[in-house]
Amino acid sequence: MISRILRRLVTSCPPAGRELGLLREHEDIARRHARVHAAWAPHLAESRRVVLETAQRCPHYRRALVIGAGDCLDVPVAELADLFAEVVLADIVTSAEVRRWERKLPGRVRGANWDASGALATLAAVRATVGGHEAPEIFARAEPGPPPGGEPDFIVSANCISQLGLVPGHALPAYDKDKSLPERCAKAAAKRHLAWLERQPGVRLLLADVARYDISPEGKQLKKETLHERFGLPKPDHTWRWDLAPIPEWSSDFHRVHDVGAWVLETER
Ligand SMILES: C[S@@+](CC[C@H](N)C(=O)[O-])C[C@H]1O[C@@H](n2cnc3c(N)ncnc32)[C@H](O)[C@@H]1O
Repeated sequence: MISRILRRLVTSCPPAGRELGLLREHEDIARRHARVHAAWAPHLAESRRVVLETAQRCPHYRRALVIGAGDCLDVPVAELADLFAEVVLADIVTSAEVRRWERKLPGRVRGANWDASGALATLAAVRATVGGHEAPEIFARAEPGPPPGGEPDFIVSANCISQLGLVPGHALPAYDKDKSLPERCAKAAAKRHLAWLERQPGVRLLLADVARYDISPEGKQLKKETLHERFGLPKPDHTWRWDLAPIPEWSSDFHRVHDVGAWVLETER
């Protein structure tokens, strides 16, 4: 309890992010990781490995930008800081962990409170009255602006694309009568994020969910849903498994497992 209060004191999130549920979601992820960290470890290690492998493709090492840095569980911060002159850890929530890295590597690691969707302030201002048609439109039209911290040579979008519209969509009063609203917000925000990422220079790495499975205690596949195609993403360059919620974390009847993918976008040298 005390550690939770201390964490909250050094965590910063703009009012729009708080109102739209993103601070609460950040804290929920930290609590889930504390409960099932052993199950997550192989996925986090593979994410960090793929980030470092992809960084080797960069022709310059001035600045790396991580979007959706969160608690940097899937981000090899020290190794990136060895490679790049500066590492910018961007998220709508700047966590206690990011503050710790700033103190540990001053001048080389920097946190940035940044809204990657570009929509949160607009959406929060109309949260109480916004309709089910208008909210996805706000995400579709939003302009996130230039990358925070200056032009990067390497951008990692770190497992945040599916959250950009989904979490705010659940925080809208309109959701009470329109249960598919979060999914429509998620699609609009993800497409906007991809279009933004494609416009940026340098090497860009997208880490995102590919598929979701429910697996019985005996290991039988009960259900599979493909996730990346709803955002218009092609097949990823590389995939691996994430034991997201072993029994009884999500359900007492099944394990929730994800396939995670990596997509590399590179401009010609
Ligand atoms: C599943 S977590 C990613 C985990 C994180 N990479 C880590 O290692 O701890 C998704 C992250 O996306 C962030 N996020 C959600 N919406 C955002 C937005 N509009 N702008 C920036 N970050 C956002 C969340 O705060 C969260 O930290």
